[in-house]
Amino acid sequence: MKRRELVLGLGAVTGAGVVIGVEGWRSPQSPRQQSLALPLPSRDAPPLRKLAAQKNLLYGAATQKRFLASDPIFAKHFKQECGLLTPEVELKWKRLRPTPNDFNFKDGDWLADFAVQYQMAFRGHTLVWHKGFPPWFEGHVNALNARDHLLHHIETVVGHYAGRVHSWDVVNEVVFPIHNRRDGLRENPWLQMLGPDYIEMAFRAAAAADPDALMVYNEVALDFDENDKKRAATLALLQRLKAKNVPIHALGMQGHLRGKTQINPNKLKAFLREVSALGLKILITELDVTDRAFPRAIEQRDRQVAKIYAEYLSVVLQEPAVIALITWGLSDRYIWLKNEQRVDGAPPRPLLLDEQMNRKLAWSAIANNLKATSKRSSPSLTHNSLP
Ligand code: G3I
Repeated sequence: MKRRELVLGLGAVTGAGVVIGVEGWRSPQSPRQQSLALPLPSRDAPPLRKLAAQKNLLYGAATQKRFLASDPIFAKHFKQECGLLTPEVELKWKRLRPTPNDFNFKDGDWLADFAVQYQMAFRGHTLVWHKGFPPWFEGHVNALNARDHLLHHIETVVGHYAGRVHSWDVVNEVVFPIHNRRDGLRENPWLQMLGPDYIEMAFRAAAAADPDALMVYNEVALDFDENDKKRAATLALLQRLKAKNVPIHALGMQGHLRGKTQINPNKLKAFLREVSALGLKILITELDVTDRAFPRAIEQRDRQVAKIYAEYLSVVLQEPAVIALITWGLSDRYIWLKNEQRVDGAPPRPLLLDEQMNRKLAWSAIANNLKATSKRSSPSLTHNSLP
C-alpha cells in the first residue's frame, strides 16, 4: 500500500502555527511556511535517542520501575527509544522516606542501574516540591527543624546518587503568581517554615553533594500564550538566584501541553532567549499533550496531538540552549493522565507510542523536529560516566 504521507506545514516561528494535511490534501502554503513531508512512522526508522544524539541532544522519558520490571515489551521499546530516564515517582520524598530517619533507595537504585546498563542519562526528580510528602512529614517537620530535614534529605539523596545523575530537578514548581506574593513564589510548607531562602539553600546543598550533575529549576505552565505572569515571575527568580551566584545550571520547562490552549511562538522564543541570556541551559522535562479537547476518532485525534507536538518543538528546539527533550511517559499504555479521563471515556492518547507500542504521528512529529534542528556544539552537559 502506498504509504500515505502526512504533510506537515510548519508555520514559521511567527507563523500562525502548523497546518497538517493527509495524502492528496495540501493546505494552502503561506510563503513563510515550510512543508515537511512527515511520513507515518515506520518501525525500522532510527530511534529518537539516535536522532537526538546526532544533534548532541538527549531524548528520553519518565517512567516507573514497576512498568519496566513487569513489562518486557515496554522495557524493550524504552531501551530502544530513550537515551535518558526520569524516575516518575521513585525519587520523591513519599517513596524515599518511609520514616523521618530512614531512606529507601531500592527502587531508585533499580532505575539508576537500568539507566547505566542501557547507556541512558539518569535524572533526579525531585528534591523540593509542594507535593509528594510522606505521611509523617506534616506532624514531624516544623520551623525549628525544617532546615535540618531539608539539608539532610538533599545531602543524603544527592550524595547517594553522586556521579550517576545527569541533572537534578532540585526545586520544582515554586513560582505561583496567583498567591500574590511580591516575589511570585508559591505558598508551600518550605516557604512557610524557612522563608524564600529555602530555594538557595536547596541548590547549594545539592551542588555540594554532586558537583558533576546539572542543577535544574523545574517549572510548569511556562509554555502558553496566557502564561505571561508565570514566565515573568520565573525569570525574576532565576535572575535573583544567578545574581547571588547560586549554583543553578538550567531551567526545566515541563511542557505539559493541551489542545485548547495556544502557544505564542514569539513569546515562547523570547522567553527561551532571556533564560539562555542568564547563562542557563534549558531542558524540556515533561512533554506530553492532553487530548481531551480533541475528537474521539483516533486518526483525527492523533493528528491533532502531533500538530501540538510539532508546533511546540518547532519553536523550542530552535533555541540552542535547549539540550534535552523528555516526554512524560513513552507509551499510552502507562500515562499519568489516566486521571484526566476524557469526557467520552475513550482512553487518552497523549504520547508517542500507542498501547501496543506502535509509533504514532506524535513520534513522527518529534523525530521530524529532531532531524530539523541544529546540532549543538557539544554533547549535553553530562558527567563522565556516560558516553
Ligand atoms: O504506587 C502506588 C500504588 O501502590 C497504590 O496502589 C496507588 C494508590 O493510590 O498509588 C500508587 O502511587 C501513585 C504514584 O503516582 C505511582 O503511580 C501515587 O498515588 C500518585 O500520587 C503518584 O502520582 C504521580 C504524581 O506526580 C505525584 O507524585 C504521577 O504518577 C506523576 O506523573 C506526577 O508527576 C508530576 C511531576 O512529578 C511534576 N510535574 C507534574 C507531574 C504530573 O503531575
